[in-house]
Amino acid sequence: MAKYIIGRSPALAGEVAISGSKNAVLPIMAAALLTDARCEIADVPTLRDVDVMCGLMRGIGARIDARCGGVMEIRTAGIASEEVPNELVKKMRASVLVMGPLLARTGRARIPLPGGCAIGTRPIDLHLKGLKALGARIVSENGCVIAAAERLRGANVYLDSPSVGATENITMAAALAEGTTVIENAAEEPEIVDMVNFLNKMGAHIRGAGTDTIRIEGVDRLGGAKHTVIPDRIETGTFMIAAAITRGRVQIRNALPDHVKSLTAKLRECGVDVCVSDDGIVVDARHGVLTATDIKTLPYPGFPTDIQSQFMAFLTTVRGSSVVIENVFENRYMHVNELNRMGANIKTEGRVAVVEGDRLLRGAEVFATDLRAGAALVLAGLSASGTTRVSEIYHIERGYSAFVEKLRGIGADIVRTEE
Ligand code: EPZ
Repeated sequence: MAKYIIGRSPALAGEVAISGSKNAVLPIMAAALLTDARCEIADVPTLRDVDVMCGLMRGIGARIDARCGGVMEIRTAGIASEEVPNELVKKMRASVLVMGPLLARTGRARIPLPGGCAIGTRPIDLHLKGLKALGARIVSENGCVIAAAERLRGANVYLDSPSVGATENITMAAALAEGTTVIENAAEEPEIVDMVNFLNKMGAHIRGAGTDTIRIEGVDRLGGAKHTVIPDRIETGTFMIAAAITRGRVQIRNALPDHVKSLTAKLRECGVDVCVSDDGIVVDARHGVLTATDIKTLPYPGFPTDIQSQFMAFLTTVRGSSVVIENVFENRYMHVNELNRMGANIKTEGRVAVVEGDRLLRGAEVFATDLRAGAALVLAGLSASGTTRVSEIYHIERGYSAFVEKLRGIGADIVRTEE
């Protein structure tokens, strides 16, 4: 079983370059199903989740060629099946993102209901509400959802909560619907903007991405397009926190400062110097005593839920106690027990966690329960005395490409072993 072995690291120093965004490339790949023309995507990160999406799309008839330098070519001239295999949806919830494009392209989609995962039940009721509003007939059968419609028709859709995936699915389906669709209370994440930029290059007419109201004028067909994926803002934030938790100074290249404004503000509240420029972001935590702050996760542009666990690991090392409120997922404190086994003192009650600061973390045998919880344990290991051994690292490698190499490149004491 593969593990990360992590020693207490010196203050990290140097430069790290951020890869393309996992949560942008997955919907963009799904969007390529909307055309039979060739699409070319650049800056595709090397991730397990991208491999799973490739496998899923190939399974329904797409031809995907991964070329050197992170360039991916997708052709879906023929869709062989509108049925997504159960084992792939279980592996990756984002598989549900092919539902809208498949339905719009072929008139049918059969998707196994994604199960819950470590961070919550993760229903898809809002996805289905939107597709039904566009005229799809939705039935459940043997744990799968089947959606069918000869031709989708534009409609007004109000999302009860600003779901990222539901916004993406409905937008992709509406791109080929007859007439206009307006999505209200839409999610505003940058990954949605990136997907819509790709769709508009394909010939879609979509406005308002990045706001809470997205307007889609449906078209009869979409063509191929070339697109470069935005940098991964969650990877960016993870390395910003790596610099902070080790009291180092790290320059983060190929990062978009606008996408990490909430984290930047919070790190500054703790006394970390964060300097942003066109060159990227410099995080300098070498000077002064860092102090506690409180965070609450919210949909973008609020503090990202995907950074909550990493930031919590950092909060255990600053002076004073902090309050963390997780508003997006109902069970995103799976990292707390593991951090407490490393000497942290964190108490949780429902969505609230109280994090005691000034803790000298100690290395321990810990395991990753989910992608971002695993990243938090790696960061804690960099700061802990002794050796930290993280298992179940496949969770981490779903969403961080060359994670060990990038960390070692800025001085981290981390190796990957097969035990
Ligand atoms: C996306 O997941 C991201 N994944 C997640 O990142 C991220 O945590 C999440 O958005 C929130 O920002 C990808 O983009 C591939 P949601 P998604 O639909 O779309 C509830 C990572 O670590 N909800 O915005 O699944 C849901 O239960 C991953 O990279 C419904 O109730 O998130 C949750 O509580 C983890 N009904 C909340 O909304 C629905 O139909 C947010 O979910 C859909 C969602």
